[in-house]
Amino acid sequence: MVFAATQNTGAGNGASPHRHPPRHPQELRAGIERLRRERNAVILAHYYQDDAIQDIADFIGDSLELARKAAATDADVIVFCGVHFMAETAKILNPSKTVLLPDLAAGCSLADACPADAFAAFRAEHPEHITVSYINCSAAVKAQSDLICTSSNAVDLVRQLPDDRPILFGPDENLGRWVQAQSGRPLTLWPGSCQVHVAFSEQALLQLQLEHPDAEVLAHPECQQHLLELADFIGSTSKLLHRAEESDADSFIVLTEPGILHQMRLKVPHKRFFDVPGADGCSCNACPYMRLNTLEKLWQCLERMEPAIEMDEELRVRALAPIQRMLEMSR
Ligand code: 13P
Ligand code: SF4
Repeated sequence: MVFAATQNTGAGNGASPHRHPPRHPQELRAGIERLRRERNAVILAHYYQDDAIQDIADFIGDSLELARKAAATDADVIVFCGVHFMAETAKILNPSKTVLLPDLAAGCSLADACPADAFAAFRAEHPEHITVSYINCSAAVKAQSDLICTSSNAVDLVRQLPDDRPILFGPDENLGRWVQAQSGRPLTLWPGSCQVHVAFSEQALLQLQLEHPDAEVLAHPECQQHLLELADFIGSTSKLLHRAEESDADSFIVLTEPGILHQMRLKVPHKRFFDVPGADGCSCNACPYMRLNTLEKLWQCLERMEPAIEMDEELRVRALAPIQRMLEMSR
């Protein structure tokens, strides 16, 4: 998916497109600090970002927490170190603010798996249904939805929906299946998935369990059902982090993107954490979209004030309603 954004010439807005990020890591970090102050910017980062980005961010969180932060900030500029749908959600909530995404190519396989026109046709086949969409989707899909959810609040929100209405759930069928089991509400599922969470090797997980029999298995609900069945605890990234802090276990096998291990190790340094490789031992458990953002690109977007998320106002207003409903229902 190719995303539109504004391109700055640098003329008249304080941006200088011709300067390049400092090479020395210390100078690079100092440069980001300076630009953050000058621009009155807030840096929001998802747990799947590189450690260096997590370390410099003002706030790190799961999708719901980041959306809440974006809604509440009084900064003039939001730098979203995450993927496009997250930055787009921040823009939907803050039309007057500049929302920057360090690398505009940071998309999401789930969002890509749900084109707006195909989703509209799917909805048309189910006119009686309430449409609940996972936040990992485009603004054009959000605009067709009655309610947005995240992995952190999906079960709770679905339980609140009227019993006499059937429910469509998209675009993650694995999350949808888990929400269905937890809420007891049958869901008609859109057939999408996250390329990272379907890549984990069951064999590697079983081997890790053999090597570390006392380790607790923590899993994100985007994982496939056969892996969720092997998990001791399932939740959003923030919930997995809190579980690692609160559990009596000393070691954990973590079935989600390994960026979260950085915060786990910082919060409970005496505990041990193991990530699970993909099939054939590949490192495809790292999200290739999230990992496009780097400190250099963070510096550059603050310096140049681009790429900035732009969107059609009529679409923004339609996409805002189900996000606001989510924020109200998950208070
Ligand atoms: P959460 O951080 O909300 O659990 O989302 C995980 C994810 O896949 C984000 O892209
Ligand atoms: Fe999308 Fe999966 Fe990457 Fe999250 S981890 S941004 S759902 S591809």
